[in-house]
Amino acid sequence: MKYLIGIDLGTSGTKTVLFDENGNTIKSHTVEYPMYQPRNGWAEQDPEDWYNATVETLRNVVKGIDQEKIAGIGISGQMHSLVMLDENNEVIRPSILWCDGRTAEECREITELIGKDRLIDITANPALTGFTASKIMWIKKHEPENYNRCRHILLAKDYVRFRLTGEYATDVSDASGMQLLDIKARCWSDEVLEKLGIDKALLARVYESPDITGYITENAARLTGVPAGTPVAGGAGDNAAAAVGTGVVTDGKAFTTIGTSGVVFAHTNEMRVDPKGRIHTFCAAVPGEWHVMGVTLAAGLSLKWFRDNFCAEEISTARAMGTDPYYLMDKEAEQSPIGCGKLLYMPYLMGERTPHLDPDCRGGFVGLSAVHTKRDMIRAVMEGVSYSLRDCLEVLREIGVSADDMAACGGGGTSPLWRSMLADIFGVRVKTLASKEGPALGAAILAGVCSGVYGSVREGCERTVKTRSVYEPNAANSAEYEKYYSVYRALYGSLKNVYGLLAEI
Ligand code: XUL
Repeated sequence: MKYLIGIDLGTSGTKTVLFDENGNTIKSHTVEYPMYQPRNGWAEQDPEDWYNATVETLRNVVKGIDQEKIAGIGISGQMHSLVMLDENNEVIRPSILWCDGRTAEECREITELIGKDRLIDITANPALTGFTASKIMWIKKHEPENYNRCRHILLAKDYVRFRLTGEYATDVSDASGMQLLDIKARCWSDEVLEKLGIDKALLARVYESPDITGYITENAARLTGVPAGTPVAGGAGDNAAAAVGTGVVTDGKAFTTIGTSGVVFAHTNEMRVDPKGRIHTFCAAVPGEWHVMGVTLAAGLSLKWFRDNFCAEEISTARAMGTDPYYLMDKEAEQSPIGCGKLLYMPYLMGERTPHLDPDCRGGFVGLSAVHTKRDMIRAVMEGVSYSLRDCLEVLREIGVSADDMAACGGGGTSPLWRSMLADIFGVRVKTLASKEGPALGAAILAGVCSGVYGSVREGCERTVKTRSVYEPNAANSAEYEKYYSVYRALYGSLKNVYGLLAEI
């Protein structure tokens, strides 16, 4: 039996998991790192933190095993985050992340340069602040000295790949989020690059997700314990990888995830695009196929923000009990009723993508009264994130994509309360899977295909992805949530002007 390794380079930390060929977790290790917010709405990380976390987690999971049995490595990563290297391959500045909203002006310029419809024709998406192209344009304008020194542009996981293999490579699913890729043809778009004045030579070579992109170098082998020559697969953006890890690789299958961001994702054999651009269309990790997904920017981030600012007591009690503060917060939220005694939360801490496409909107509690307690606020955060995911689902339904076979994954997916909330608010059956390692398992399956352990991505999924439990929606609960969801839907429109005014100050 061979081993496969999946690296999940997230925003709160990097988790590396060693699996056997049947998708069983043998060992897992996570290292966390900070996200810096130099200004309201900005978000950056240090790529060195990602690399150090990868080395440490890899070293940890391969310690004490027969390392010759490692067949391959796959990497999944937070999407869109921009890394620039100089001629000595040194990182030029901190990475500007997927949830950074500083580039509204550059998005307007991109739309003007390429044309709104033509941009959607080629990249399948409108210009968005989260995507990499506008970040590159921002550096060009605001930090020309950095842009002029730049020799290589990489995404987060691709920087780590470069340090492990020496190759400048990316995969179609992650490259889709740069807004420089021709999504139909699955290659860089000369037209977009030319109109934006970005030299193609700066970009990495594009592979399909299960392709071999390089091999572990002697130096990386010495640091990590993974044998030199181990193949590294193309891998995938975190959502495309989670799709593979949850078996969402055929039409009609969908998953929802609550990590730092929240996503409702559906696989599609044929390319489908929302003409209003509210959801993203990207290349899937399954060669020659696509996926659509809606993104809520501050999903798990909302609860983390609440935990870090208001739950010192839960954090210290959890430490004393040897448990997770989120577990205690879940228990508190369970004591609050559906609707939290008429309290709503908007999760727009970092602006919002689906469905509002608005970097300036911000979060809020609406309906607070003197009867409310912390437990109501915790539940309101969980409900608000779920309503925002329901917004994503509604757009998928509107463009005719079926998302009724729904799996839940990500940190939020481990909370029984959150899972049943999703089933009730979505009005669909939500299943959980035997492995809770969505993106890491997906990356490992891709490694299994690149190293010949599996014949195809679908075969890898059949071998490894198993259902654990199924949550049926409860009709009475769904009806109750529906009343609050319709009020939640009205909030953004009522406050849009206020967000604009705040942004102008
Ligand atoms: C997807 C997106 C996020 C990041 C975060 O478009 O921006 O889901 O991939 O992990």
